[in-house]
Amino acid sequence: MQTVLVTGGAGYIGSHACKVLKAAGFTPVTFDNLNTGWEEAVKFGPFFKGDLMNRADVDAAFAQYRPVAVLHFAALSLVGESMKDPGKYWRVNVMGALNLIEGALVAGCRNFVFSSTCATYGDQDGVLLDENSVQKPINSYGASKRAIEDMLVNFGESHGLNHVIFRYFNVAGSDPDGEVGEQHVPETHLIPLMLDAVAGKRPALTIFGSDYPTRDGTCVRDYVHVMDLVQAHVLGLQWLLEGKGNRVFNLGTGTGFTVREVIEASRTVTNREVPIIEGARRAGDATALVSGSARAIEELGWEPVHSTLRQMIGDAWGWAQGSGYSK
Ligand code: UFG
Repeated sequence: MQTVLVTGGAGYIGSHACKVLKAAGFTPVTFDNLNTGWEEAVKFGPFFKGDLMNRADVDAAFAQYRPVAVLHFAALSLVGESMKDPGKYWRVNVMGALNLIEGALVAGCRNFVFSSTCATYGDQDGVLLDENSVQKPINSYGASKRAIEDMLVNFGESHGLNHVIFRYFNVAGSDPDGEVGEQHVPETHLIPLMLDAVAGKRPALTIFGSDYPTRDGTCVRDYVHVMDLVQAHVLGLQWLLEGKGNRVFNLGTGTGFTVREVIEASRTVTNREVPIIEGARRAGDATALVSGSARAIEELGWEPVHSTLRQMIGDAWGWAQGSGYSK
C-alpha cells in the first residue's frame, strides 16, 4: 500500500479524506498538532503528532513514513480572525506550508495536493467563478491561501514539485456512516449552527444580512458535500501519481443556494422549525460565491453525487444527534 501524509488529518475535512484514502487502498498518515483537530477522528491510519511550524517534526514524519505524496489540509481558516490578526495567518499558514514543501522535497516526495479556497477569488458580485477568474482575496485568510498557491507554482518550476490545487467552495455534511463528522470550536458555519438552533443547543440562528442584492436578500453559496470533496482528492492524488502535471480545480457544484433556502431545506429534513433572528451583515462576507465546476468533472472524472442540500443537511443532522468527539 502506498503511504500518504495527511496534514490536518484530525480535522473535519482531513479526517473524511483519510477515510476515503484508506478505502482507495492508501495508508493515510495523519500529521496534526490537535490545535483544532480531534485525536478520536484519527481512525484510518497512523497518527504523528507534530506541528508544521517545527521543521524537525516535519522531517521526522517524512523520515518515519516515506510518503509518496502529501495532502495538505492543516491551516487556520477563520475569516473574521484573519482580519483581526493577519500576522497569525501569514505566519501559521504560509510558514507552515513552506516548512512542509521544503521538508517534502528534502525527503524526495514530489507530489502535493493543496487545500485552497474560493476566498482567493474575493467578492465578484454573482459572477460564476472558474479557475481562470481573477484572484482578489478580500481577507487575510484568502490572501494567505493565494500566497501558498504562488509558492507551489514557484517550487514546481524550480524544484519539480508536482501539485494539484483544489479551491473549495462551501464544504458541508458529514460521513453518512457517522465514523467522523464536523466539529469545530468555535463553530462559525451555517449548517451546524442552524442545526444547533433546531436542536435547542443555541437559542436561534442569526441570518447575517437580509439586504444583499440576491433573490431573497441573503447570501448565495455553493455547498459541496464533504464526501464528494474528499473523493476529488483521491482523484487528484491519482492524477499526480500518473504524472499528469500541475493543475488547479474548483470544487463546487455550480449551483448556489441562499441562506433562506438552506433554512427551508432544513425544515423538510428535520421536520422542525429553525428559530431565526434577522441580523446585520457579517464583515468580510461576499454576496455570492458559485463555482464554475466543469473542469473537475471533465478532467478528473469527478462525480459529486452526495451534494444535494437534503443529503448535506441530513448527514449533518445525523452527526449532530450523536455524541461527537470528547477529546
Ligand atoms: N451565515 C449566517 N449565519 C450564521 C453563519 C453563516 O447567516 O450564523 C451565512 C453567512 O453569512 C454566509 C453563509 O451563511 O452567507 C455561509 O456561511 P459559512 O460561515 O458557513 O461559510 P462562508 O461562506 O463564510 O465560509 C466558507 C468557508 C471559509 C472560506 C469561505 C470563502 O468556511 O473557510 O467559505 O468565502 F473562507
